[in-house]
Parts: sequence; structure tokens; C-alpha cells
Amino acid sequence: MILVVGANGMLGHDMMALLGDRARGVDIADIDITSMESTERVLTTLRPSVVINCAACTNVDNCESDADTAMQVNGEGVGYLAMATRSIGARLVQVSTDYVFDGSKGTPYHEDDAPRPLNIYGESKLAGEMNAAFNPDHLIVRTQWLYGLHGKNFVETMLGLAKEKDTLAVVDDQIGSPTWTVDLARSIAALIESKCQGIYHAANSGFCSWNEFARSIFEEAGLSVTVTGMTTEQLNRPARRPLYSTLDCSKLEQDAGFRLQPWRDALRSYLSARAAH
Ligand SMILES: NC(=O)c1ccc[n+]([C@@H]2O[C@H](COP(=O)([O-])OP(=O)(O)OC[C@H]3O[C@@H](n4cnc5c(N)ncnc54)[C@H](OP(=O)(O)O)[C@@H]3O)[C@@H](O)[C@H]2O)c1
Repeated sequence: MILVVGANGMLGHDMMALLGDRARGVDIADIDITSMESTERVLTTLRPSVVINCAACTNVDNCESDADTAMQVNGEGVGYLAMATRSIGARLVQVSTDYVFDGSKGTPYHEDDAPRPLNIYGESKLAGEMNAAFNPDHLIVRTQWLYGLHGKNFVETMLGLAKEKDTLAVVDDQIGSPTWTVDLARSIAALIESKCQGIYHAANSGFCSWNEFARSIFEEAGLSVTVTGMTTEQLNRPARRPLYSTLDCSKLEQDAGFRLQPWRDALRSYLSARAAH
């Protein structure tokens, strides 16, 4: 049995839907990964063969003001999961982020590029990656710019704002790959199936700025909203963000035979799924 931790979150929901009756889901009401006792108890009771950890503190700006919680959930909690999975002979799959990188490389990041996080969230997720390695049978999947039906995300924010405004300023100097959680779930399943270990990058293919993504959302949704540009510096969020953090996903394709669809096709698929939901 595969255990999905953080099953009520945006990725967790789609992971559960994809795995069907092969999986069981738990979230904060059943397990608190910041407690070694809670984590050990749930894993020794359920005895899964694979644990996919989708639980995290994901509000990047809030992590700046509550670094302790970020480190406990994203860092130490993964260590408890690694120790508990190791003791029952299970594999640990840890979901991580492009924010472990500083975005200064200028070309897509490979799995073995040196991490250098710019913010607390990235630091805490990097600590989680290192702690995942307490279990030698671990898989770390770095992704970025997620959106899906079951969580707060950029697509929903834009569609919500379109009801109130006909002009929006959106950052045009951060480049990445918007990634649909359904496609990410499929890539994680392919990596598990192929028995891959170590670090892999998984994001929808191609890249754009948040500004281009916003314009694409309005075009695909048939909404006439004017999108103007602004810089990251002008937006002035609490957490620093990498400016260019696209992920090279060729290792995923080579080892698991899986390639995520282009981001714009994924956006279209998401909007269709959303309309049918
Ligand atoms: N969202 C993105 O753009 C993005 C980008 C790159 C990587 N990632 C990574 O992808 C993964 C999935 O992200 P997501 O956006 O799907 O997450 P999400 O929607 O925020 O879901 C996370 C889930 O974890 C639960 N949780 C929080 N603390 C917990 C604890 N101590 N014990 C057990 N469960 C706990 C949350 O419960 P509550 O809601 O009650 O707190 C929530 O149900 C995360 O590892 C994240 O770091 C996300």
C-alpha cells in the first residue's frame, strides 16, 4: 500500500485520485509529521511499502515570519518520516522545490547543481531533502509553480481577480514552468514504478514569466483582462524569489520514460477539468 501524507492538499488530492485503491491518505488530523511519536505510530500501524510526502508549509511569505514552523514541518518532519520509513523497510518519496536554487545560473537547473536558497521556505525544503536521506531508499522530486483543483494557486487567483478588475499588473521578471498537479502526480507514479532513487526534477515543459502565464490564463479562459508588467522589486514580497529557476527534467525522461506535457497544454487541460468539476 502507498501512503500519501498531506492527502488533503493540492498535490495530495490528485495523487490520491491517480493511485485509487492502491493508496491510503492521511493529513494533519491523522498524523503530525512534526511529532516523531505521531509519525512512528501511524507508519508502524499502517505499514505502507511507499510513503509519498505531500505535506508541507507552502506559504512562502509566511515562512519568513514563522521560520520555526517552516523548519519543523518542511525540515525536521521529513527526518521523522525518513526514520520511520527506514525502520519499516518502506521507501520515502519527498516532494521538493525549485526554491532550493538562487536562480542565478541562467540555464535550466540539473539535479546535481548546487542549491543556494534565497528564502526560509527554500532553506527549510533543502533541510527536508537532506533529512530524507536518513532513509537510503528515498526519492526526491523537485517541482515548481504548482496549480490544481484543490488548493490556492496562481490560476485561481487570476480568475478571481478577473471578476473585479479589467487591468492587472503582474511580475514579468521571474521565469519558471507552471505545473499542473495532475501531471506532477503522474510523473511521481512513473518514478515509483521505475524504482528510481535520488533526486529528480519534474515540471511541465517549456517556461514563461508569471506575466505571460497570466495572459495565457485569460486567453484560454476567454476573458478580456489587460495585463501590464511590473518587477519583482516593485512587488516587494517578504520572501526573495529566484528570477530564473526552470528545471531540466531530462533525467526523469531517461530513467522513467516520462515527459510532462507543455505548460500551455496543461493549462488547457486544467481549465477543462475545472469546468467539468
Ligand atoms: N504549491 C507550489 O507552488 C509548490 C511549488 C513547488 C513545490 N511544492 C511542494 O509540493 C508539495 C505539495 O504542495 P501543495 O501546494 O500541494 O501543498 P498544500 O496544498 O499546502 O498541502 C499541504 C498539506 O499538508 C498538510 N500539513 C501541514 N502541516 C502538516 C503536518 N505537520 N503534518 C501533517 N500534514 C501537514 C496541510 O494541512 P493544513 O492545510 O491544515 O495546514 C495540507 O493539507 C509540498 O512539498 C510543497 O513544498 C509546492
